[in-house]
Amino acid sequence: MSDVISFAISDWNLACPSEAQERATRALEAGKVLLFPQLRFPIENGEAQLLSPIAAGRAKNVSLDPASGRVRGSDADPAELKLLQNMMTRWATLSKKLVCQLLPHYAMALQQARTSYRPVEVAGRPTSWRKDDTRLHVDSFPSSPVHGRRILRVFTNLHPQGVTRKWRLGEPFEALAQHFVPSIPGPLPGSSFVLNALGVTKSRRSAYDHFMLQLHDRMKADADYQAKAVRESFEFPSGVTWMVYTDQVSHAAMGGRYALEQTFLLPVEAMRDPARSPLRVLEKLRGHALA
Ligand code: SIN
Ligand code: FE
Repeated sequence: MSDVISFAISDWNLACPSEAQERATRALEAGKVLLFPQLRFPIENGEAQLLSPIAAGRAKNVSLDPASGRVRGSDADPAELKLLQNMMTRWATLSKKLVCQLLPHYAMALQQARTSYRPVEVAGRPTSWRKDDTRLHVDSFPSSPVHGRRILRVFTNLHPQGVTRKWRLGEPFEALAQHFVPSIPGPLPGSSFVLNALGVTKSRRSAYDHFMLQLHDRMKADADYQAKAVRESFEFPSGVTWMVYTDQVSHAAMGGRYALEQTFLLPVEAMRDPARSPLRVLEKLRGHALA
């Protein structure tokens, strides 16, 4: 059975039936990818020119801070930057509407984080093993500790010539945590203070963030594991939208370009079933609180 579950939603602004809300919450928290085959992000006048290499910079993604409206990581000229900012801001607004309509009990606690535009071809992108997202991994942020909060991401594929965004999915979080986490040493005493004081992290790195980063790295560094752990390959057609807890779902992006992504953070307590969260799964394995 596929780990990708379809929802027949076609309007970013319409309220979702409660049956769909229930089904979506359960599937998402169980580690499924929610796919919206009919939810197309509307490109406006002039924005088609952004679906070309012009928007890319040296970074792999262009990012927008929805709070300040500031765009980073693009070499586009000022007129194109304005278009980019408009498009990304509209995506930030619509993706938030979708999450709030589909998962209304998350709405009060949901924090909107970075918005990204991904114009660079994923396949063959030169990168270090640690940043290589073609290797299965769970997401964890080295400089922005989440202190146990969930990482919920919404994506849409904008490819103008209909090229798919190719993903792989791996084993359930409980299984991969069992495999890697018992042998990971805990953080060194004082290390979170030092990392924060040196500006490596934006706040103190919790033990949870330490274990999730180690899990991310050990998955990517283990060639044997990578060869054996793929459970499913899935191609997201151009014009579709999808949503997934990327801190829980083992994933790899194998190919494609021109996608938009919005990150949300959610406190574990706001989940329908917090026991499903990576925080609670790791705490059970380690036998003590981690955040
Ligand atoms: C990732 O989170 O590993 C990348 C997903 C994507 O850009 O499609
Ligand atoms: Fe990822």
